[in-house]
Amino acid sequence: MTGASAISSVQREFVESCPIYESTRQLDILRETEYSRLDHLGHIYLDYTGAGLYATSQVGDHTWLLQSHVFGNPHSQSPASAPIAEFVEQGRRKILHFFNASADEYAVIFTANASAALKLVGEAYPFGSDGHYLLTFDNHNSVNGIREFARAQHAQITYVPLTLPEMRVDEGALQEYFKLARPQGHNLFAYPAQSNFSGVQHPLEWIPQAQGMGWDVLLDAAAFVPTNRLDLNQWHPDFVALSFYKMFGYPTGIGCLLARREALSKLKRPWFAGGTITVASVQGDRYFLAEGASAFEDGTLNYLSIPAVEIGLRHLETVGLDPIHTRCLCLTGWLIPKLLSLHHANGIPLVRVYGPLTTQRRGGTVTMNFYNSAGRIIDHLRVEKAATEHRISLRTGCFCNPGGGETALGLSKPELIGCFSQPRQEDSRFTLEDFRHCIDSKGTGAVRISLGIVSNFDDVLRFVEFAGEFLD
Ligand SMILES: Cc1ncc(COP(=O)(O)O)c(C=O)c1O
Repeated sequence: MTGASAISSVQREFVESCPIYESTRQLDILRETEYSRLDHLGHIYLDYTGAGLYATSQVGDHTWLLQSHVFGNPHSQSPASAPIAEFVEQGRRKILHFFNASADEYAVIFTANASAALKLVGEAYPFGSDGHYLLTFDNHNSVNGIREFARAQHAQITYVPLTLPEMRVDEGALQEYFKLARPQGHNLFAYPAQSNFSGVQHPLEWIPQAQGMGWDVLLDAAAFVPTNRLDLNQWHPDFVALSFYKMFGYPTGIGCLLARREALSKLKRPWFAGGTITVASVQGDRYFLAEGASAFEDGTLNYLSIPAVEIGLRHLETVGLDPIHTRCLCLTGWLIPKLLSLHHANGIPLVRVYGPLTTQRRGGTVTMNFYNSAGRIIDHLRVEKAATEHRISLRTGCFCNPGGGETALGLSKPELIGCFSQPRQEDSRFTLEDFRHCIDSKGTGAVRISLGIVSNFDDVLRFVEFAGEFLD
């Protein structure tokens, strides 16, 4: 499958399989203008769930802003502080506007990233011993980690398993889990709007269902919002966590927690810091937290980068989430069957894709493993090394989503407990190598590719050709 004419014939076949792709042609122009470095440098970028890519103009606009102002710490009223303080507030308004959220209902709390937003909720949620933390197997470790705050308060912790092969949650079973809300306590349900492992989009309908049964809902939107619209006028999760670099590449180091003001008032911060209080006294031994978002923003914000969030959101609005979404689905819809059609000469399939094999209720994240002609898994690290030689950027491992990995790879609870309880020297850490050794025959991870703002057909075609090189 090489040569211009061959490429154009498969491309024709692809466009015929998804005619709506033609309506996204402006993204090709965008790639040539704003993201030309990708093709100039010969990159095949397939890790948009790891990090989005920024347009050249985002960086230019931000640089211009910094070069044409004098910005001081926004915590004071000086001539250098007031303008940047206004940019920070303007940033909050822009975020609310982008997600169609009302300022009366939601507060925007700036954080370093989605993980910091999740931690803010976890450390301040009043679980107590009557509380309950319910979460899906399919979750990023920064959501899993909240269980340690729940555990420290002796709250109940319950995981909702995934069903194979689609790696979704059984809807009937979920309703039974929702019934486990504890009437005397605080109940928190956490799940990702889109899985960073399988690309599954879990229903947003769970938000009102869970709330109606006594749960506060924490929606991890980090992998969802780069290619999907989240409308907070339609859906009203109590807490939403996200990272902006995943949406538009630049800046890094800023995320946010969008919190319903009512839910926010429930949280009990475990400490106070500069910026979070109205008054604190040493001798009086008292402190008084500020109102709303300020109480959750410890110390000085990353104020110079916050204007770049507004620039990035404007960029996404100009490009439009709809064409990005459409394009990712068309490419995914072509890619998955192509990968599944690859077989070794003896008929053994080369690739196993985890999660949905159609474009129904999923995003453009596709996770798989490669198999040799004896049907044995090809180590994902070997695949990653080969991809690097082809200038293909992809992700391997479990992507900080162990519940997704354990489900996909068929690792059972007794197996895992067995691994973790093997005798080791007291002070030795359990390393990834130990883990790989322990579950040797099953593989410890997978290969993930994910599409985004300027993905094109050539990217997925090159990946299929790359995969084909593993055939006998
Ligand atoms: C679904 C999901 N949640 C949370 C995170 C954590 O994001 P960050 O590392 O920016 O804090 C990620 C990162 O990949 C993610 O994919």
